[in-house]
Amino acid sequence: MTGSRIVALGHYQPARAVSNDELTQTLDTSDEWIQSRVGIRSRRIAAADETVADMAAAAAEKALANSGLTASDIDLVTVATCSSMDRCPNVAARVASALGIPAPAAYDLNTACSGFSYALATADHAIQAGAARNALVIGAEKLSDITDWTDRSTAVIFADGAGAAVVTPSEEPGIGPVLWGSDPAKSDAVVIEGWQPHIEQAGQTVFRWAAFALPKLAVEACEKAGVKPSELAAFVPHQANLRIIEPLARKLGSPDAVVSKDIVESGNTSAASIPLALSKLVERREIPSGAPVLLFGFGGGLTYAGQVVCCP
Ligand code: UT7
Repeated sequence: MTGSRIVALGHYQPARAVSNDELTQTLDTSDEWIQSRVGIRSRRIAAADETVADMAAAAAEKALANSGLTASDIDLVTVATCSSMDRCPNVAARVASALGIPAPAAYDLNTACSGFSYALATADHAIQAGAARNALVIGAEKLSDITDWTDRSTAVIFADGAGAAVVTPSEEPGIGPVLWGSDPAKSDAVVIEGWQPHIEQAGQTVFRWAAFALPKLAVEACEKAGVKPSELAAFVPHQANLRIIEPLARKLGSPDAVVSKDIVESGNTSAASIPLALSKLVERREIPSGAPVLLFGFGGGLTYAGQVVCCP
């Protein structure tokens, strides 16, 4: 086998939808500000007793059911998350236990909002190296637990959810080479620090970095895969802000690509946003099977990672 590919996806969102109007009851904000500055209309917030691992397992269970594989076929579980506060066991072990996966390599990975693309790359590399055969790659976040609900600049943005992919060996590589990196000089721009942390960000710093640095990097991720941006069937960037996503998609030069704007109904779910958005597009059959899709994550660190994948 010379590569790996995504064969199935699944996602989970908590039942409770919170509208912008609901947030105006406790915060000095407005539906108009949130929609025009960020693009969010509504977001899902988990129940108090619902954990990152619960959401990760629910998404993974769906992806596994869609793949036709069974729990005993999986030998690697990786979970991208920056909001799980438990140090041990990691979320991957909790997921493996919940799904009855007998003996997988199980690790969490934290590169904040770019986490899913990093985790997907490590699973692809493990399969190519012969260190794993079938992987579950998950992005899951409960950002509501680390949100300061009195801070309007973050409380209107962040939300909860999970998405998962099943990755298997493939003669034709279905996961392109990853373009990954970071800008550590801006590592203070997004922080989740201390024992009872809250997520804080220098929004303008991240916004400007995203606007100026990311278009070139997204094109580079396509070049690494030997795919022209004009050939992309879909573009699924991290769902941070519609005012980042739409110009980025225009600069990419893929006018016919479906561009995910899941932020409108899901908010910013950090490492969960890409697999959540991709899973929804696939479920709605908005991308033809086998067609090239650019995934591109960016955020805290500041980190970024992107790769072209074949749509399952
Ligand atoms: O996913 C992790 C990576 N993070 C990102 O990619 C975030 C990138 N940054 C952004 O998306 C945007 O910078 C934000 C959405 C976070 C903020 O939007 P902005 O247009 O950059 O707003 P701002 O922070 O410059 O604030 C503009 C004004 C301020 O008021 P004054 O000082 O001009 O009077 C804020 O106090 O908007 C005010 N403001 C709000 N007003 C109503 C901030 N939050 C709110 C709010 N409702 N929720």
